[in-house]
Amino acid sequence: MEKINPLATSLAGLSLSSPLVTASGTCGYARELSQFFDLGMLGAIVVKGITLAPRTGNPGTRLIETPAGLINSIGLENPGVEKFISGEMPFLRQQHAPVIVNISGNTEEEYAALAARLDKVAGVSALEVNISCPNVKTGGMAFGACTIAASRVTTLVRQHSQLPLIVKLSPNVTDIAAIARAVEDAGADAISLINTLLGMAIDIETRRPILRGTFGGLSGPAIKPVALRMVYQVFRAVKIPVIGMGGISTWQDAAEFILAGATAVGIGTASMVNPLAIPTIHQGLQAYATRQGVRNIAELRGMAHQ
Ligand code: SIN
Repeated sequence: MEKINPLATSLAGLSLSSPLVTASGTCGYARELSQFFDLGMLGAIVVKGITLAPRTGNPGTRLIETPAGLINSIGLENPGVEKFISGEMPFLRQQHAPVIVNISGNTEEEYAALAARLDKVAGVSALEVNISCPNVKTGGMAFGACTIAASRVTTLVRQHSQLPLIVKLSPNVTDIAAIARAVEDAGADAISLINTLLGMAIDIETRRPILRGTFGGLSGPAIKPVALRMVYQVFRAVKIPVIGMGGISTWQDAAEFILAGATAVGIGTASMVNPLAIPTIHQGLQAYATRQGVRNIAELRGMAHQ
């Protein structure tokens, strides 16, 4: 008899063996994680943000630990799309998990060019359009903080790619539901949220902000209640599926996001603390589904709204 997988789910036309995906930027191109567990266990591998040209990232301190999280100011360091395709895709294609490529640009045109370039690359299953990076001078969060800009980028990327489009939203806005509706109307197939919350740290001896750009993006357990609230709001606001993320560290956290309405959940900072966080959450979620008496975890999606 065929074994039923209680965690199997589908999202924007992709079949995922699990709702657990990597959160972009927290595991590079997944080579390091592959030393710890079979990446085939993942619902999808979401890679570090790619730009058209290579980027060296931000100077100075880039990571600051806080009592319940991490502030980053990486500045989208990446090898650029061509080197990503030639250097990283051969490894990623060998993994038994869909590959979702996170893309960023300084301008709308750069997003469009990236989408067009990645459209027919073997092994790329979907695009995650990053309109929420808080650590760059142009582009990034500037697109995600305004319904018109968010809509324009999504429309343009949609015109240049046949791939499923997931748009990654910033929590640094007053009305997340309005941004979510704008990208849905513009052709997004799914929404991922949240990216990091703006934060900062000050060196009390030098009396100066530690990060050269003053502010960075806070992730980790500290932001989980905010992320959960926004996933709950966005689930109510749109019809397309939601990938929830932000401080998920345990299977209980993942279960909360699914109950709030997430079809899949991203694990990020937790993997930096414990590279086996994903397999541990996977196991806990499987047992939880059984205890809840459901054949598939998807039956629990959005139940907190009832
Ligand atoms: C960074 O590279 O600075 C972080 C990326 C992001 O937050 O989207």
